[in-house]
Amino acid sequence: MIAGRNRTDRTGATADVPVLEVRGLSARIAGQQVVEDVTFSVPATGVTAVLGRNGVGKTSTLKAVLGLIERRGEVRLAGERVDGERTDRIVRRGVGYVPEDREVFAGLTVAENLRLAERDAHPRRELVAELFPDLVQRAAQRAGTLSGGQQQMVSLARALLNTNRLLLVDEPTKGLAPRIVGEVSDALAEAARTVPILLVEQNLEVIERLAERVVVIDAGRVVHTGPARELLDDPDRVQQLLGVHAEVDHHGTEGAVAR
Ligand SMILES: Nc1ncnc2c1ncn2[C@@H]1O[C@H](COP(=O)(O)OP(=O)(O)O)[C@@H](O)[C@H]1O
Ligand SMILES: [Mg+2]
Repeated sequence: MIAGRNRTDRTGATADVPVLEVRGLSARIAGQQVVEDVTFSVPATGVTAVLGRNGVGKTSTLKAVLGLIERRGEVRLAGERVDGERTDRIVRRGVGYVPEDREVFAGLTVAENLRLAERDAHPRRELVAELFPDLVQRAAQRAGTLSGGQQQMVSLARALLNTNRLLLVDEPTKGLAPRIVGEVSDALAEAARTVPILLVEQNLEVIERLAERVVVIDAGRVVHTGPARELLDDPDRVQQLLGVHAEVDHHGTEGAVAR
């Protein structure tokens, strides 16, 4: 290892090695190419957002990183190749996944959902209770009876219970009312202080608030990477890449959303 590259902090992360490096990643679903030669990296701190219209391969990219779908190419976690590994090994290396559509166990209580997610010897229950006081109150409630926003909180809480190197979070604000979008963003902002996040998100106000960097995908390929600010300040580019008018409203609640 190169000198200076192995400086580690409390979590074992290194400050200057990207937590995730993806190079030439391709993936297929049912014989169809859904991710094509995707290359990007995620720094060891902060939020990196993945943007793109519906159906361009954002979810598939996360699934390919995790080995949930057939893939080719290089995936490095904190410098180590993991693309030959099975999903369970990658997860145990410290990758938390918050899937699109939340995927909570509807028939189980909130407490049961959380208990099932505990992987570490010392799960971070206090952190989760602090971030999501509502869930503490609803511990005995069946997750299927929660609102969409509350289910999203359960899904995030499940990932945050364990000490991860990286969180992959897929469209956490999709379909939520504006106030709840704010609450989910608050929780993500808090979480991002302790763990780097690769966030698939289409709400540009959420991107503006949370993300330092963006990776834009179109038709399975990366078509833009760079600072979030730079892209959001260029409405023509946003229109071109995402097909939305990027009048990010700094005052109101109506955000530009790429759909
Ligand atoms: N289970 C599946 N079976 C067949 N095609 C799929 C499946 N999941 C996704 N796809 C296709 O893969 C492409 C990328 O999908 P996805 O990664 O979910 O896009 P995004 O997350 O950007 O909306 C789309 O064309 C979608 O129709
Ligand atoms: Mg998706």
